[in-house]
Amino acid sequence: MLRLRTRYFSLLLGGVFFLSVSKPAIGALGKIGDDLSTWAGAQEKSSIERMLFNISPPGTVLGVVVASPSQHNPNYYYHWIRDAALVMGVVVDLYLRATNAETKKYIHERLIDYISFSRTNQLTPNMSGGLGEPKFLVDGSAYLEPWGRPQNDGPALRAITLVRLAEIWLEEGKEELVRKVLYRPEFPANTVIKSDLEFVSHHWWDKSYDIWEEVSGHQFYTRLVQRRSLLEGALLAERLGDGVASYWYRKQAGLLEEQIAKHSANLRGLIVPTLERNSGIDYKYSDLDSSVILAILHAVGDDGYFPVTDDRVIQTALKLQDSFQKLYPINNKGYRGTVIGRYPEDRYNGYSTGQEGNPWLITTQAFAELYYRMARAFERSGEFALTRVRCDLLESVGIFGSKKGEKLYASDPKFKAVIKALLNQGDHFLGRTQTHGYPDGGLSEQVNRYSGYMQGARDLTWSHSSFLTAIWARY
Ligand code: NOJ
Ligand code: NOJ
Repeated sequence: MLRLRTRYFSLLLGGVFFLSVSKPAIGALGKIGDDLSTWAGAQEKSSIERMLFNISPPGTVLGVVVASPSQHNPNYYYHWIRDAALVMGVVVDLYLRATNAETKKYIHERLIDYISFSRTNQLTPNMSGGLGEPKFLVDGSAYLEPWGRPQNDGPALRAITLVRLAEIWLEEGKEELVRKVLYRPEFPANTVIKSDLEFVSHHWWDKSYDIWEEVSGHQFYTRLVQRRSLLEGALLAERLGDGVASYWYRKQAGLLEEQIAKHSANLRGLIVPTLERNSGIDYKYSDLDSSVILAILHAVGDDGYFPVTDDRVIQTALKLQDSFQKLYPINNKGYRGTVIGRYPEDRYNGYSTGQEGNPWLITTQAFAELYYRMARAFERSGEFALTRVRCDLLESVGIFGSKKGEKLYASDPKFKAVIKALLNQGDHFLGRTQTHGYPDGGLSEQVNRYSGYMQGARDLTWSHSSFLTAIWARY
């Protein structure tokens, strides 16, 4: 029943998103003399195109999102549940942004494909023995080699993406479609969202591998997105008349909070990525990991839980930046901003482990997004109360002489200077994508720590989607 993608990519270039031109030729984006916004506009187009190209490329089953077109050295030609959920979250944004019927229809079909492939994944027996299986082959079959299993962030991320889509469809009056393919109150679950929520609500206490697929234990990232999926899921369940389930999901989210608190229960004011490690690599001594920042971005909500403006988040971000600034030679060659890696002790260079790790685009772009969102959040609130951590933050963006306890209001010129400096800092991080990315808009996984050249899987789908979420947080 799995349908192969037969349609060719030219359909996409045939006018969807008004991309009247095919892929820009090398050099077309221009680097020298362009200000960030000119470049960013061109990169945005390229990233949309290349991201969509990696969704069900020819020869794969419909609904597959390959992590990268690269099929060897490294082979990333798989459907990772995590990458796919994050990428399809951006496709949901494209659905909302579509300005003509043709585009909307094209995106709608991609979403339907993803939903049905996801259901296939859920029903395919695999070595995790449940929904925590991290990746599937592009023909839909299970991956049968040793791997870091399970990775329980996957079902939570997929639920976050699809609950958001369900809410949008309900607003559009498509309740029948939502009930058909996304959520029905039946138990045991027969629909993709309900199955994910059941899995999350019955397995959040299990240890699992981290998003870098290397360390097993209790993961801050996984727990934060699990909580968010349960809360958003509870709202949807309630809306669709599944009150008992809604109560159950909300209750589990509350219990998760008690566990999440343990990740920041330390005197250093930092968020610790992994607790109670029980297997996997054992050389992460610093407890510094960008996955913590990704968690904040991917679990964002409007309930004030671990917001981007939280001192613990800011403190962790500053420590990470400082550490990567010193670690990578490419950060000391006069470019503005800092390229950020996964964690300082990283030994994966994009091809094999046991090497020197590098900066990554998804993490560097996450820092850009963090600063953009921070700036916008302070701007919206109209005030900025200085804590010790916020004084450090201001110093790091070149504003000196602030005092703890000081309070700035929107009318204050210093308040405006703070917002501007935070946006600028975001631009410095995002500008590194311009510096190190391919001139034709291609984005790989990593940036060589010495030379600054792209390295690892080419056109990593997630590199493109995270560029898009960053730039959209800026506008
Ligand atoms: C390795 C990354 O660490 C992981 O987060 C990702 O899911 C896979 N590559 C596929 O992109
Ligand atoms: C039984 C309820 O009917 C179901 O919908 C709910 O989600 C589960 N309990 C919890 O597993």
